[in-house]
Amino acid sequence: MTQTLSPTGLAFRTVPEDRLRGAHDLFLAALHEKPGSDESWDVMRQAYVADRTFGAFDGDRQVGTAVSFPADLTVPGGEMLPMAGVTYVGVRTDYRRRGALTGMMRAQLEDAEERGEVFAALHASEPVIYGRFGYGVATIARDIKVNSKRARLRDDVPVAGTVRLLDGDEVVPACSAAYPALQRTRAGLMGRSEQWWALSYHRRIKTDHLLVAAHFSAAGDIDGWVSYKPAQATSGDVRANATLYVLDFQAADQGVANDLWRHLVGVDLIEDVMAYFRPLDDPIEAMLVDAYAVRSESEGELWLRVVDVPAALAARTYGIAEPVVVEVVDSLLPGNSGRYRVSPQGMERTTDQPALTMAADALAMVYLGTWRPSVLAATGRIAVADPAALPAADRLFAVDQPAWNGSLF
Ligand SMILES: CC(C)(COP(=O)(O)OP(=O)(O)OC[C@H]1O[C@@H](n2cnc3c(N)ncnc32)[C@H](O)[C@@H]1OP(=O)(O)O)[C@@H](O)C(=O)NCCC(=O)NCCS
Repeated sequence: MTQTLSPTGLAFRTVPEDRLRGAHDLFLAALHEKPGSDESWDVMRQAYVADRTFGAFDGDRQVGTAVSFPADLTVPGGEMLPMAGVTYVGVRTDYRRRGALTGMMRAQLEDAEERGEVFAALHASEPVIYGRFGYGVATIARDIKVNSKRARLRDDVPVAGTVRLLDGDEVVPACSAAYPALQRTRAGLMGRSEQWWALSYHRRIKTDHLLVAAHFSAAGDIDGWVSYKPAQATSGDVRANATLYVLDFQAADQGVANDLWRHLVGVDLIEDVMAYFRPLDDPIEAMLVDAYAVRSESEGELWLRVVDVPAALAARTYGIAEPVVVEVVDSLLPGNSGRYRVSPQGMERTTDQPALTMAADALAMVYLGTWRPSVLAATGRIAVADPAALPAADRLFAVDQPAWNGSLF
C-alpha cells in the first residue's frame, strides 16, 4: 500500500475493504446526513471498488474520503476512452482546510494515470473546489421546468414508438443492456459501469420510489427511457402542486425524445415536470403549443480532468482549419506539459513555438467543444502569442452538437 504524507501530517492511502462503510458514513456526514442504515449500505457497497477509494488519515483515524469507479467517455468523433468517475468526496468538518482534499486528489489522479485512464470526471457541489486540480467545466446543461397544465405537444410532433413503465426488477437489466447503443451518439456521454448503476439506480429504486418509463421502437427494442420520482406538495393533497423530478432522460434520437416528453407532460396530477441536466439543444420549446410553459436555466454539468493529454488530443476529431500549436502547462501531472500541433489530421508533439498556452482546466473546457478558445482567451484563461491562431483553434475544437454527459453520479 503506497502512502504519501502532507505537510500537515495527514497521510493518504487506499481504504481497506472492512472500512469502506465508515468511509461512506464520513462522506454522508460531510453532506450533513446521518449514517446509512444496514439496508442502504447493502446497496451502496456495490458502488465501491476498494482499491479506488482513497482516504486522508490522521494516524489511524480516517478524516477524508474520495472514491472513483471505472467508466469511459465518448469524445468528439465517437471514440470512447477510459475515465475515472470521481464521486463521494468529503472531509470531516473538524479537518477542513488542512490539505486533506488536496492530498486525496493528487493520489487519485496519480492512480488514474497508473491505470491508463485518459480522463477523470465529476459533478461538483461547489464550483470553487476543483479547478485547482485541473478540472474544468466541460459540458453545460439545462435544467428544464415545464408547467404540465399549460404544456401540450403540437399535433405535428412525430410519434416514434410506445412508452411503458418498467417493473422495479426489470429496470437495471433492461436499461444497462440498452445503454451502450446510446453512448456513442454524443460527445460527453459516459459508460455506465455496474458501480454507476448501483449508486445511481439501485438505491433510488429501493428507497426513493423511482419510476422508469421505457421507450420501445417498432421492433420492440428499448431505445430510450426517463426515470423520475413524483414529489407531492407539502400539504399532502395529491391534487395540489406535485412535481415530477426527472433524473435520467436518454433517447437514441429526437423521435424517441418526443415520445418521452409526451409521456412526462401527460402524467396526471402533476403541476410541473422538472428535468435536470438536459442537453443545451433539447428542443422542448419548439415542441409545445405554448412555448412559455417552459422555464429553464443552464449550469455547469461535467467537470473534466484530462489525465493523459497526448492520448486525449490524439483520440478526438477536429474541424477544418489551419494547424495550431498549443502549449499545455500541467503542474500536477507534469508528463502532460508540452507542445502539441493540432490539425484536421490529428495531433502530434512538437518543439515549435506555441500560438496558445493553457493550463489543464482550460484544456478540459475546450476539449469537448463547449467553450471556444477565443472566448477563453478573451476572458484570460488562455495566453495568446499569435492572435491569428484563435479563429483556427475555434474551428478545430468546434463540435456539431453540444457535448452532454447526462449521467448523474
Ligand atoms: C470540499 C471539501 C472536500 C474540501 O476539503 P478540504 O480538505 O478542506 O480542502 P483542502 O484543505 O485540501 O483545500 C484546498 C484548497 O481549496 C480551497 N477550498 C476547498 N474547499 C473549498 C470550498 N468549499 N470553498 C472555497 N475554497 C475551498 C481551500 O481553501 C484550499 O485553498 P488554498 O490551497 O488556497 O489554501 C470539504 O470542504 C467538504 O467535505 N465539503 C462538504 C462536502 C462536499 O462539498 N464534497 C464535494 C462533493 S463534490
